[in-house]
Amino acid sequence: MREASHRLAHHGLGKANLIDMVQLSGTTPPPLPSDHLFVEGAAETYAAQMARVVAEVIDRLRAVERPFAGTPLHEIERLVDTVDLDRTVPFDAAVDELSRVYLDHAIWFHEPTYVAHLNCPVALPALAAEAIASAVNTSVDTWDQSTAGTLIERRLVDWTAGLIGFGDDADGVFTSGGTQSNLQALLLAREHAAHRLTGAPFEPELAPRLRVLATRETHFSVQKATRLLGLGSSAVRQVATLPDGRMDPAALRAALHDLVADGDVPMAVVATAGTTDRGCVDPLAELAPLARQHGAWLHVDAAYGCGLLLSPTRRHLLDGIEHADSVTVDYHKSFFQPVASSAIVVRRGADLRHVAFHADYLNPKAAVVPNQVDKSLQTTRRLDALKLWLTLRVVGAEALGGMFDAVIDLAGEVHGRLQLDPDFETLGRSQLSTVLFRFRPYGVTVAQSDELNPAIRAALFDEGRAIVAGTRVDGRHWLKLTLLNPQATGHDLDAVIERVRRAGRRQLAEDADGLEAVAG
Ligand SMILES: Cc1ncc(COP(=O)(O)O)c(C=O)c1O
Repeated sequence: MREASHRLAHHGLGKANLIDMVQLSGTTPPPLPSDHLFVEGAAETYAAQMARVVAEVIDRLRAVERPFAGTPLHEIERLVDTVDLDRTVPFDAAVDELSRVYLDHAIWFHEPTYVAHLNCPVALPALAAEAIASAVNTSVDTWDQSTAGTLIERRLVDWTAGLIGFGDDADGVFTSGGTQSNLQALLLAREHAAHRLTGAPFEPELAPRLRVLATRETHFSVQKATRLLGLGSSAVRQVATLPDGRMDPAALRAALHDLVADGDVPMAVVATAGTTDRGCVDPLAELAPLARQHGAWLHVDAAYGCGLLLSPTRRHLLDGIEHADSVTVDYHKSFFQPVASSAIVVRRGADLRHVAFHADYLNPKAAVVPNQVDKSLQTTRRLDALKLWLTLRVVGAEALGGMFDAVIDLAGEVHGRLQLDPDFETLGRSQLSTVLFRFRPYGVTVAQSDELNPAIRAALFDEGRAIVAGTRVDGRHWLKLTLLNPQATGHDLDAVIERVRRAGRRQLAEDADGLEAVAG
């Protein structure tokens, strides 16, 4: 009774009014909108709804045998478009519908033959923590919205800073992903340069002189960030790479020298620890002193390679990362976390002041309690740290590092097999878990293989039994495997390669038939 009258009061309705309403209409009143909210009295509905969706996902985990059902785009479009968003249905019916519209055609990253992009199977405790974070709905911006959440995020930032090798001054903040982390890093770099040059915040007049040094392997989000920061895409200067795709320190030295000679300002050097395509780690220890000599901010984009921080055998690949001014870490790539989970970590916490803004209603300057909004580009922000927290407590850093090592080992194994296979060519050798290769059997020219390989990729996707990625290097098309599933075996990967081979042969046969038909 207390529950019912509480809800009525909440809606401005007295009990007597409601009885009148029922008597007048002669029917049960429709549920109050708050019956659908996570509020007092909702426990049973909440439990039932959660149980239903967990059961639905478990069914998929058991039944799904391929990364994609292969449903054509127009069919998925039809399914999505025909849902009437202006009409409600009971929860179970809505979940049935969602199952048909979404789950039946989802891409399943936990399937071992999904080897396309940087998507990982996720740690189970992280999923449990997601359920808590969504229900509590903490916004980790101010203390009065997140309390312990603030401290949990801070502990994890400190923990990550410790892994990087930063000292006690380090700080950072969780972000929505590598793109946002890179943007924030370059914003800090821009302000750092402006203060060094003029003693004041950035003004547009400075833009034409500020330069960012990167390579062609650098993630596109860096280019996008310079545009967003008012520096223009031409602010990014490409430093030549070594043959394996890593930034060439001699070329960086020369580029820095040339910039300064032209009167430009090297605002930042962006090194990558784990490039998206070739999986290489720039030689951080050699790049760091060059950046420092010229007063350039060193940002290390370790969105992909951050898993090396936990690797029992390959941590040395990140040697020198401790000299960075800022580091991007995507836990949702190599720490097996669900999207989104990323952080920017800076060597000197004071540098984060460049994104601080004090609003009277939220975080006035005089506030004495800790808050994270001062350090973030976002205001309202999910407590994404919670899932990493629970993962560390249950799975542990060592196991995460071991899983990342396992996929790197597997990539090496697959690369080795492809090298020996006369139907395939490989490009380079990833230090992480990508494999670049193309189907090019005897007699197929490079130009033909540029047509053939994208067609193979598309055919595989349409079939849905294995999903691979594709990219261009030096204008040539390559297929890409990105391995992030430690449960995948050499056998699974052999199956993927065989599918590629079969699709390639089919394509060649079709092309030959086509040519014959034209000739005939
Ligand atoms: C090296 C690198 N940096 C940054 C990003 C962007 O990360 P996100 O997709 O989390 O924004 C990616 C994404 O693949 C990446 O590979």
